[in-house]
Amino acid sequence: MAFFRRRKAKFSDVDMEHLPRHVAIIMDGNGRWAKRRGLPRKAGHAAGAETFRTIATFAKELGLSYLTVYAFSTENWRRPADEVASIMALLEKYLHEAIQTMAKDKVKMAFFGDLSPLPPHLQALCRETEEISKGYEGCQVNICLNYGGRDELVRAAKAFALDCVEGRADPGHLTQEALGNYLFSKGVPDPDLIIRPSGELRVSNFLLWQSAYAEYYFTDVLWPDFTKEDFLRAVSAYQGRSRRYGGV
Ligand code: FPP
Repeated sequence: MAFFRRRKAKFSDVDMEHLPRHVAIIMDGNGRWAKRRGLPRKAGHAAGAETFRTIATFAKELGLSYLTVYAFSTENWRRPADEVASIMALLEKYLHEAIQTMAKDKVKMAFFGDLSPLPPHLQALCRETEEISKGYEGCQVNICLNYGGRDELVRAAKAFALDCVEGRADPGHLTQEALGNYLFSKGVPDPDLIIRPSGELRVSNFLLWQSAYAEYYFTDVLWPDFTKEDFLRAVSAYQGRSRRYGGV
């Protein structure tokens, strides 16, 4: 059955003229992938980081404008210290590699989330990758790090309130667009498609504001097993949806 469900998706299943501009992914299922193999959870994250590399490269090749991934949430600090350290180490490794290749790929990198609790050298590396790539106009990869949708909204509310108190903003003139400018995603269009692998059917505090009209795609495939074909399958499903934005 699994064979039939996961038949190979091809480029021909996808309308290349109507690709989503922005795809976001909750990279879930690393722990279960490792458990099924009798491996430590960190092996699942290492495999998940490889999948991220493959999918980020593929998104760029397809010509997507934005890819946003949930790498570490505000709640993930509750995990054992060695698991947190292993995720941070994978990020560090990835960012060092990205610095080597981003000039060629023209990939722009950005981070959504409060980086201040991260180890100082990792914060510096994040800022360095943003700085190096800020002028690039290829695919923009946004990595959500110590990110939570509610945390983002509370920060926006505080920043807006401060602007009001200090005379730079007026509550009577607040619009949805203006509030969007207080978010980590400032300047980035909302995601068109949000993919969640691993069979979980939850939003998990991801892009709460930005997902207002996103199309969701859920699959049982665990993130380390997620392939380019799975990505195309998600894009093809997205293209079969009718987006009405509350209209008819
Ligand atoms: C969720 O799976 C995954 C994470 C909390 C970490 C994601 C991190 C990576 C893929 C590696 C580093 C990222 C980059 C961008 C290089 P889970 O552990 O909750 O899985 P489970 O639900 O099966 O336990």
